[in-house]
Amino acid sequence: MKLSRVILAAAAGLALVSTAACAGATPAPTAGGSAPAASCTGDTAQKVFKLAFNQTDQHPQFIAAVELGNKLAEATECRYGIKAYPSEQLGTQADVVNNVSDGSVEMMYIGGPVMEGFNADFIVFNLPYMFDSIPAQAAVFADEAVMGDLNKSLEASKKITVLGALHAGVRNVYNADKPIKTPADLAGLKVRVQQSESQVKMIELMGGVASPMGQGEVYGALQTGVLNGAENNETVYNALKHDEVAQYYSYTRHLMIPDYLLINTDALAGMGADKDVFLGLVPDAIKAANDGFEEFVATSKANSEGIGAKFNDDVDVAAFKTAVKPLVDESINNPVRQALYDAVQAANAANPA
Ligand code: GCU
Repeated sequence: MKLSRVILAAAAGLALVSTAACAGATPAPTAGGSAPAASCTGDTAQKVFKLAFNQTDQHPQFIAAVELGNKLAEATECRYGIKAYPSEQLGTQADVVNNVSDGSVEMMYIGGPVMEGFNADFIVFNLPYMFDSIPAQAAVFADEAVMGDLNKSLEASKKITVLGALHAGVRNVYNADKPIKTPADLAGLKVRVQQSESQVKMIELMGGVASPMGQGEVYGALQTGVLNGAENNETVYNALKHDEVAQYYSYTRHLMIPDYLLINTDALAGMGADKDVFLGLVPDAIKAANDGFEEFVATSKANSEGIGAKFNDDVDVAAFKTAVKPLVDESINNPVRQALYDAVQAANAANPA
């Protein structure tokens, strides 16, 4: 949706504010109840939050972030907006999360496993075969009683506030050599995983050799044979062109890991009265990103098939599930994790596959 352009005659005269000059500045206090001082979009507001994203500008999360920025600008009369940077322009998730912590980048989307480095309890939602269905995952993430403490757990130590958790697809393995049907098929294959111990252990238990790295390096590593394969959803497989260099995509369905939308805690607090306006817009942004995901998966898969990728659904999922069970069992090892795990099981029971 395009913002309507507003021209305003201020009492003191016509003041056209240069949005470029304002970007990054601390927003001026508004005259009580007055109309906006300038028209703007999310990336030309007076204070523009940088939002780091490691996938392309076609991704529904990116589109939702741009929209959130525009709505924020509109709702705050151009005091605040967001500019989203796609394709790791601001760095890998593992790097840029430190910038969100120090406030030099205000916002980002981040994969669940990278959060484990700050608070290991995030592991629960990153474990294999945890969620039975997308509605089960959505029910857990929408429940403030379940998520509240986790979302705030890094505010004091890292100045990171979790605004919400998003659906980020179902992950499957792919490789350059052959369809994967059983754990034995992964033997000796070097498979890229996200940067966390849980993901390393998971691929080892699934039968492969784990290689943690940032997403941007994967294409080159597959191309040169440094990696034999990776694991991800269909959208990354196609958008980052992994389908060109790893033809076999096999439906192990081993993960339904969330992404989180993060903001620097001080940046959020510094919004004053606009903070609640902003927080009120976030649920719709998350919903928009989630709603767009299914179609993005379908388009991505069709694109990959179009260039010759082979999707294999003849997979012994039960064998993979058995193989990774020790990781699940050993990870649910404190009361916080047990409570999160129990919430997932209740949601699974209410929202079966
Ligand atoms: C998905 C996920 C990202 C994550 C990426 C990865 O695309 O949405 O947050 O970074 O996978 O495997 O690194």
